[in-house]
Amino acid sequence: MTPTRRDVLKLAGLAGLGAALPRGLRAAGEIPELTASVARLQLLPESYPQTEIWGYHGTIPGPEIRLGQGARVRRRFVNDLPQGSSVHWHGIRIDNAMDGVAGLTQDPVAPGGSFDYDFVAPDAGTYWYHAHNRSWEQVARGLHGPLIVEEAEAPEVDREEVLVLDDWLLNPETGQIDDSFDHPMMMSHGGRIGNYITTNGRSNLSLPARRHERLRLRLINASNARIFPLRLSGLEGWIVALDGMPLADPTALEDVLVLGPAQRADLIVDVTAEEGGTADLVHVEEDETFSQVAFTVTGTASLSRRAGPAALPPNPKMALPDLAGATPLRLVMSGGAMGRMQSAILDGERKGFRDLAAAGHFWAFNDVAGMTDTPLADLSLGEPVRLEIVNDTVFPHAMHLHGMHFREIGQGDTLGPLRDTILVGGRETRRIAFTADNSGDWLFHCHMLSHAASGMTTWLRVT
Ligand code: C2O
Ligand code: CU
Repeated sequence: MTPTRRDVLKLAGLAGLGAALPRGLRAAGEIPELTASVARLQLLPESYPQTEIWGYHGTIPGPEIRLGQGARVRRRFVNDLPQGSSVHWHGIRIDNAMDGVAGLTQDPVAPGGSFDYDFVAPDAGTYWYHAHNRSWEQVARGLHGPLIVEEAEAPEVDREEVLVLDDWLLNPETGQIDDSFDHPMMMSHGGRIGNYITTNGRSNLSLPARRHERLRLRLINASNARIFPLRLSGLEGWIVALDGMPLADPTALEDVLVLGPAQRADLIVDVTAEEGGTADLVHVEEDETFSQVAFTVTGTASLSRRAGPAALPPNPKMALPDLAGATPLRLVMSGGAMGRMQSAILDGERKGFRDLAAAGHFWAFNDVAGMTDTPLADLSLGEPVRLEIVNDTVFPHAMHLHGMHFREIGQGDTLGPLRDTILVGGRETRRIAFTADNSGDWLFHCHMLSHAASGMTTWLRVT
């Protein structure tokens, strides 16, 4: 029954006495809700049944949270799921208590429970939020959404599009999400790779565009394990930010942009296709290409093209880490199918590969599978660190550090752009550096989420 005006007033009065308000009714000044629940929606084309998903406010992706740089995000996370959950604000250099890691920075929020998130977003850029309890299941079921922090001075573009790339592993007969989340095959190989690829929840997203229009595309790879190699067609563009952080100079995107799980890229693109034609964000797969997003070009925005875009304004705290004084750390990744890992330490005991597998662990960091009581490193606030990541497996891994961005150390100790996730190819060694300038306990894990669940998770302590 819809309450009459009088009923609403009565209920509002009761709120002061501690009575629960029905959902949707809120006293003024109360914190807005972010509710995770089970929902059904038309994920597949119309001829298929609806798909049951887990989503924030029942949408795929979750509602966009948008704010100005330096503003506060306040959300009461309400868990209407049948499983405990938490919300992680990926890429935000956040206050540790708000990082949303169940089991490290907070307890999971039980079904029916809630948790108030309240933090400041110091950096402008493209970020995202997602579940961080059983994330290999919960993110795969749809629990993620974009988190956009706007620059005080917006770049000159005609409009912008937030594009959340995802893939789903669906049963082709029922159209339902395949629930073999803990299957050893997914854990021990390339992770949970879907069979249905979407952008903003659509398999064939098509957007209007005009010739010579200038767009900002905010790309977010929200998939569990899929690496998206992307190209432009009928568009000419520049990368202006990676993982939220602005590049010192826009880089022309001439070839392929590889977006690993959890990575983001901000592009500024000009529509160069003719009127009546199409332009595409192209997904390159093996030898095939697919239109990830199609732009139908009608009309003309301007007669000629503009000069290249300016760099985005820098974020605070982008200073280079002090490499010379940096503490050296090393992370050796081992395990997986076709790997050489014979044994590893699990919960303080050495176990053979078989026993590890039986316990759901297929990977190790520095000979240790899964979370430990002690951190990988105990760092003091402000300490510079250089970390060598040795991938002694045949699979690529998308290593993500919470709470701080890092830079890749290149040839001759040059430092790359600030990132929060680095894709390390099979049998590859990469080096990163950062200043441990955010205190707290920070997770460092593979963002191929089934890998994180089966051994590839560790943490750093900054005090
Ligand atoms: Cu995007 Cu530990 O997470
Ligand atoms: Cu991995």
